[in-house]
Amino acid sequence: MMLRGITLLWALVSLTQQAPSQDKCVCEFENSQNIFPREKLSTVEEGASKCNSDITPQQTLDLEILLLGLKRRLPQLEGDVSILEKEDDGDLYGVVSLQVVENELLEIRQLLDRLNSTSRRYQRLTVDATKQLEDLKEEMEEMEMFDTLQVVKGQQDNQRLKRDLDQCRHDLQPSIHPTRRPERADCPHGDFKNISGPRVYTAGEYPGSYIYGAWGQDPKPEVGKEDWYWVVMLTSGNKFSNYVRRYSSLSSLVIGKSVPGNTLIHTANPTTNTIQGPNAVLYGEALYYNCYNQDAVCRFNLTAKTVINLKLPPGTRYNSKSNFCHLDECYHFTDMDLMTDESGVWVVYTTTQDHGNIVLSKMTDGEELRLTQTWHTSVYKQGVTNTFMICGVLYATRYVDKTIEEIFYSFDTMTGVERFDIGVFITKMTPNIYSLNYSPVDQMLHVYSNAKILSYKVIFS
Ligand SMILES: *[C@@H]1O[C@H](CO)[C@@H](O)[C@H](O)[C@H]1NC(C)=O
Ligand SMILES: *[C@@H]1O[C@H](CO)[C@@H](O)[C@H](O)[C@H]1NC(C)=O
Ligand SMILES: *[C@@H]1O[C@H](CO)[C@@H](O)[C@H](O)[C@H]1NC(C)=O
Repeated sequence: MMLRGITLLWALVSLTQQAPSQDKCVCEFENSQNIFPREKLSTVEEGASKCNSDITPQQTLDLEILLLGLKRRLPQLEGDVSILEKEDDGDLYGVVSLQVVENELLEIRQLLDRLNSTSRRYQRLTVDATKQLEDLKEEMEEMEMFDTLQVVKGQQDNQRLKRDLDQCRHDLQPSIHPTRRPERADCPHGDFKNISGPRVYTAGEYPGSYIYGAWGQDPKPEVGKEDWYWVVMLTSGNKFSNYVRRYSSLSSLVIGKSVPGNTLIHTANPTTNTIQGPNAVLYGEALYYNCYNQDAVCRFNLTAKTVINLKLPPGTRYNSKSNFCHLDECYHFTDMDLMTDESGVWVVYTTTQDHGNIVLSKMTDGEELRLTQTWHTSVYKQGVTNTFMICGVLYATRYVDKTIEEIFYSFDTMTGVERFDIGVFITKMTPNIYSLNYSPVDQMLHVYSNAKILSYKVIFS
């Protein structure tokens, strides 16, 4: 550009060529205008390249990562919207996909907010850069005066440079720093960060026979049963069961040798207070599950072989009215999800007055059975595929494709803070996760998925 400036500068100068004498030639220059500010031009050029080298490498890397995230999100949103458009109005799946699309829009908005933001660490730099860029712009405008004289023909260059400078300044606009959750004292492992690949993967004792089910380890076992595992398979129409099957170790579960065998709730299946749906958990030698044909949680005491039940609040949806779903399928009889964490037993469900959004309640695990506290979330139950609790925080998953499930949502019962941007992916071996529960004993997620038994290690920071 400087070279061009100098070349064009010659046009400013009127050249007078005198008639040649015999042996020499004399040229006379006469400058009719102001001298082109060459120094200024170099300063601007230096400034602009300094802006590039000083600022952008530190900032644009983050921006590029975020942009890449956006680029991936948008086609997915587009796909889901077109699915939504194809569906009938008022149809259940229409509502579900609308929810999925809404979740995606929320994530995209969060990405945009993050794009717009720079950390406080860079704020000082930003102020300096803005001043510097304003000076540069002013000088560029001064130089534009020469344009009237056709000296700086490179107006396009100017404009390009100006646009780059504006862009540079725009990208550096400061914003609010995201707030961090305070450290919690009751969580011994730190914050939830990620999930390992599958650690246990087995077809169990009855390969392929029972599509729906649940399995795990009692977080509060009786003495001598610390290594025991339990399995509940929905043996009647993939919907109901009337017993818990137990194994004295993980290896006996994997090879399919059930030594303690079954503990029967009732000889009939299904009948009053037997198991409905796959989301059961064992805690303190008692099985917690959705009672057959009731808006209630049952607790089966494996020692006394007695069942008590607890009716959930009026309006609670049951009998496959508010299941876990993805776009192609709802998992029948998943109206309620029983869960364990470090602090005991929890239940996820929804009610008519909550418009189908997830309600979370903490339960007692002593002699009596009651709800101790309840939280209302803004995530639509039929827009998620499963939930689990870690350290008093509820996490929800959604189906991405046959091989990937995403943990996308969290609700912190201590702070009431909801997040839709968790973005932790579970690598699946089979498409549908019918039950998902966290074991505080070994920090594993236990998964029952299309007749397969799997576990994943939870990674904390
Ligand atoms: C970017 O952040 C600033 C400061 O928080 C805010 O005023 C502005 O509206 C944001 N711009 C966009 C496009 O979100
Ligand atoms: C989580 O773990 C997977 C595989 O183990 C890895 O590819 C991914 O980058 C991790 N994600 C985060 C947020 O650490
Ligand atoms: C189960 O029954 C046994 C024997 O009656 C009793 O000691 C125990 O406390 C009961 N467990 C629960 C959780 O109620």
